Amino acid sequence: MKTSRSIEKIVRGQKTSDGNGVKLTRLLTQDLQKRLDPFLMLDAFGSEEASDYIGGFPDHPHRGFETVTYMLQGRMRHHDSAGNSGLLHDGGVQWMTAGKGVIHSEMPEQKNGRMSGFQLWLNLPSKEKMCTPWYKDFRSEEVPEIQLEDGVTIRIIAGTSHHARGAVQREVTEPLYLDIHFNKDTGASFEEVIPKTSNAFLYVYEGEITVSDGSKSNVVKKEEMGILSNDSDLLKIKTAGMARLIVIAGKPLGESIVQYGPFVMNTKEQIIQAVEDFRNGNLA
Ligand code: CO
Repeated sequence: MKTSRSIEKIVRGQKTSDGNGVKLTRLLTQDLQKRLDPFLMLDAFGSEEASDYIGGFPDHPHRGFETVTYMLQGRMRHHDSAGNSGLLHDGGVQWMTAGKGVIHSEMPEQKNGRMSGFQLWLNLPSKEKMCTPWYKDFRSEEVPEIQLEDGVTIRIIAGTSHHARGAVQREVTEPLYLDIHFNKDTGASFEEVIPKTSNAFLYVYEGEITVSDGSKSNVVKKEEMGILSNDSDLLKIKTAGMARLIVIAGKPLGESIVQYGPFVMNTKEQIIQAVEDFRNGNLA
């Protein structure tokens, strides 16, 4: 019997740039949207070189989904068409529901030093794609954190872990978003219940980890994403030393996905409408 989900596939992502020349690695690419439904995109960014991030993301639109930005290090200023503004910095999270439409900018508020983090796109169910936009910033100290034995820290960005509720809950897709730190150089083990019905993946950004399903073990190294199999309700992770990773899971929507750049809808007609609304100034 399987005692854990296993690693179905290792993904190293595509080096690319977005916004005004911000260098990043796109881990969850369009060809994985169906497999990892309800997630549409995961980008990892991380650089000491100001030229890799200084251009930022000037004004651009979104419609039909949610963006979750998790900043590990650095400072980024956000402005949007709904009048929201906020500063995202070390350990903070910004959750934005674009719904029927938002135009926003995300610009670095630093001229040197390291900037690193992730941007995840979470799809909205068809009935919520045209909802009123919503937005919230969580400072690092507002992100619920729990300490387990063996020096393991869990930061809970979304969902519930070990009976603790995270910063954000969503009904239909029930997203789980954890940042897990193995803090001991002798390593530790960690378990999380993730129902089989949820699609799940993890990304290691420091050290390396091992996922064992009872018969086989897979190592996931630094800067690798592992897609998790859907054949167990448990995830077991072990490390031999210090490591850090994010674990993301959610219930698939099973609806059609039509993406055109920053718009993600269910039909081509809805995309044409989004482009038209943006051109006419009716998006946000
Ligand atoms: Co954006």
